[in-house]
Amino acid sequence: MNAGGIVLRPARNGDADAIAAVHRAAFGASGEADLVAALSRDGDIVLSMVAASGDTIVGSAVYSRLLIDGANKNAIALAPVGVLPERQRQGIGGALIRGSHRVLAASGESLIFVLGDPAYYSRFGFSQDAAKAYQTPYDGPHMMALKLGGNAPERGAVAYAKAFADLA
Ligand SMILES: CC(C)(COP(=O)(O)OP(=O)(O)OC[C@H]1O[C@@H](n2cnc3c(N)ncnc32)[C@H](O)[C@@H]1OP(=O)(O)O)[C@@H](O)C(=O)NCCC(=O)NCCS
Repeated sequence: MNAGGIVLRPARNGDADAIAAVHRAAFGASGEADLVAALSRDGDIVLSMVAASGDTIVGSAVYSRLLIDGANKNAIALAPVGVLPERQRQGIGGALIRGSHRVLAASGESLIFVLGDPAYYSRFGFSQDAAKAYQTPYDGPHMMALKLGGNAPERGAVAYAKAFADLA
């Protein structure tokens, strides 16, 4: 995928430091970079998508496995997503998220949860209403869900990957 000189691709071996640097710069703190490292160490990442401009990774979106009622029902969490501050508001975050969702839908993933600003995530189809049928550790106005396919579970209790609990 290539939009405006930005290439979207799954992360490769050797990208970890650049991905961490993107999240540290985007969030101005190391918590999100640490989360990505822990998710990776635990084998819980379903898709790590990067946006690259030449040899530079400028954006990262990480999707990790969730369990619904204790089972793998092809549901995932989007967290974190970040773009280098100097490259924000150029459509990179949107391209990353939309491109990731095409890849995830094609690989049979069914349902994505995200905790964030509804004003931003609603443009990708996430909705607070769609999240209401599930119980998550982060229930509230910032919890949103997006069904990718007809095989999505209709309801259930959501358990995030272990790294999220370790972060709290
Ligand atoms: C959120 C983020 C990934 C978006 O990436 P991006 O490449 O800047 O996004 P896009 O260019 O595709 O879209 C920009 C639009 O998103 C909106 N937007 C960006 N961040 C937003 C936010 N936190 N809340 C609401 N809207 C936001 C703006 O309206 C902007 O539109 P505008 O330029 O017309 O004002 C990026 O801004 C970022 O890394 N922020 C810091 C980390 C962060 O907060 N991550 C999300 C945690 S839930």
